[in-house]
Amino acid sequence: MEELNLKTGSKSFESKRGFTLDIRLSVNVDHVASLREARRSKEPDPVHAAVLAKLGGADGVTVHLRKDRRHIKERDVMLIKEVVQLPLTVEMGLFDDILEFVIQVVPYKVTLVPERVEEVTTEGGMDLSDKKIRELVIKFSSALKEKGVRVGVFIDPENRMVDYALECGLSFVEVNTTAYSRNPSDKDELRKIRESARYAFEKGLEVMAGHELNIHNVSNIAQILEIEELSIGHSIVSRSIFLGFEKAVQEMKEKMIKSRMLALLNSV
Ligand code: PXP
Repeated sequence: MEELNLKTGSKSFESKRGFTLDIRLSVNVDHVASLREARRSKEPDPVHAAVLAKLGGADGVTVHLRKDRRHIKERDVMLIKEVVQLPLTVEMGLFDDILEFVIQVVPYKVTLVPERVEEVTTEGGMDLSDKKIRELVIKFSSALKEKGVRVGVFIDPENRMVDYALECGLSFVEVNTTAYSRNPSDKDELRKIRESARYAFEKGLEVMAGHELNIHNVSNIAQILEIEELSIGHSIVSRSIFLGFEKAVQEMKEKMIKSRMLALLNSV
């Protein structure tokens, strides 16, 4: 086995099934902006955090431009895209005014999420079993795809949601890890994520996962070889208060790669 570079992940280590050590971390900087908005001031700046995330080994940056603009603002999205030069993922609800803006920005990816103004955070996956929602998802994704943006959807870990995502012509799914994250010893929740990730992968979708992951519960998820990318925000921002932003990102990325290495060793 060749020597592993735990910071970047060596591409030379491949299992028989073709999976590699590569598992991307897209760092969500929303809650840096939450702290700024707590004082309606200029700091801390999520653009600064995104730069430090890059230095810490992040593979991408994620922001959720909410209808109520409670944290991230248009200015943040534009500057992060321009300055940081990492693949930018924008999470967005099905709102026409947000779509209009995001089409101008042309991020690398858009994750469509259900959004209620009253919610504290995203409460669950998009209910693609609702025909009206599917029609909206198709409308939004078509407009974004025309600009060359990859479009996916946040789903609960259910195969039927993967099938609906395929029906809507999406490129990827992000599997909701909330139930597992809140109770990591629940084998059933982990099994659901594993099975839906595998199902989506086999159907040709790119598979991401996230929500409420932290340094203590990320390992089981990073060991699911079909998952290519994790989107993690709140726990990294929380730890950054004590460790520094760059270090908090680095710590998470290292944990992900070490977990992936374990899974690869078990699979060969
Ligand atoms: N994925 C989605 C779809 C989200 O809405 C969020 C929160 O913005 C995340 C991932 C990141 O979740 P957390 O901040 O709990 O890591």
